[in-house]
Amino acid sequence: MTALAFRSVTRQYSAGSSQVHVLDQLELDVAEGQRIAIMGASGSGKSTLLHLAAGMDLPDEGRIEVFGTAVSELDEPERTRFRASRMGLVFQDYNLIDSLTAFENIELALWLTDQAVSKSEVVALAGELGIEPVLDRRPGQLSGGEQQRVAIARALIHKPNLILADEPTGSLDQDTANDVLHVLQQSLQDRQCAMVMVTHSDAAAAICDQIQVLDHGRLVPAA
Ligand SMILES: Nc1ncnc2c1ncn2[C@@H]1O[C@H](COP(=O)(O)OP(=O)(O)O)[C@@H](O)[C@H]1O
Ligand SMILES: [Mg+2]
Repeated sequence: MTALAFRSVTRQYSAGSSQVHVLDQLELDVAEGQRIAIMGASGSGKSTLLHLAAGMDLPDEGRIEVFGTAVSELDEPERTRFRASRMGLVFQDYNLIDSLTAFENIELALWLTDQAVSKSEVVALAGELGIEPVLDRRPGQLSGGEQQRVAIARALIHKPNLILADEPTGSLDQDTANDVLHVLQQSLQDRQCAMVMVTHSDAAAAICDQIQVLDHGRLVPAA
C-alpha cells in the first residue's frame, strides 16, 4: 500500500491580478516505510506540499491520498481526526507548549485519538530518544536538541505510519542536528514508518531513501 500519493495536485495563490502556481500537477508516491527528502529553493512550495499532505490545506485541483484515504475529500473535523491518528508532524521551531512539561507535551498527541497509551510507554519512547531524564522539565528548560527530541516523541507516541517533517534540524547546530537525525532514523526504521522531510541539509537528506527537488511546482529526482 502507498503511504502518501499526490495525483496531479495543483495549488495556486493569487498575486495581484495573476495566479501563481506553487504546485503544478504535482505527482508524488511514498511507499510504506519509505523516507523521502524534499529539497528546493526557499519559496518553491515545500511547506505548501507538507500542509496539503497533512490535510491542513486543500488542493485547488487533484487528489491526495494517505494510506488509501483521500484526505483532500474529507471535511475539516475528519481531516483533523485523521491527521491526529495516522500522522506525526515535526516542525523546525518544535511547536511545544511552554506551560506543559516535556511529558505532558508528548501525551498531548493522544488528545483526539482513541488510543490509550500508558505512562510507561511514554517513558520507554523517551528513553529511546534519550530524553527520559528531562521529562519533568518545561521547554524553556531544554536545549534545542532536547526540544526537538520531545517534538519527535510527540510525533511518534500514537504510532503513526507517516511522519511529515518541515526542516526538523533547521534550528540546530551541526552536532546536535546529527544526534537528532540519528535517533529519528533509528525510530523510523524500527517502526516501518514512512516520512516526507523537507530540508536544506545534505546530512538530513542522507537519512532518507530518496531525494526529490521541488522546482517550478513539480518534483524531480535529485541529480
Ligand atoms: N497563504 C498564502 N497566500 C499566498 N501565497 C502563499 C501562501 N502560502 C504560501 N504562499 C506562497 O507560496 C510560495 C511557496 O511557499 P512555501 O510553501 O512556504 O515555500 P517553501 O516552504 O518552499 O519556502 C511562496 O511564494 C509563498 O509566498
Ligand atoms: Mg517552508
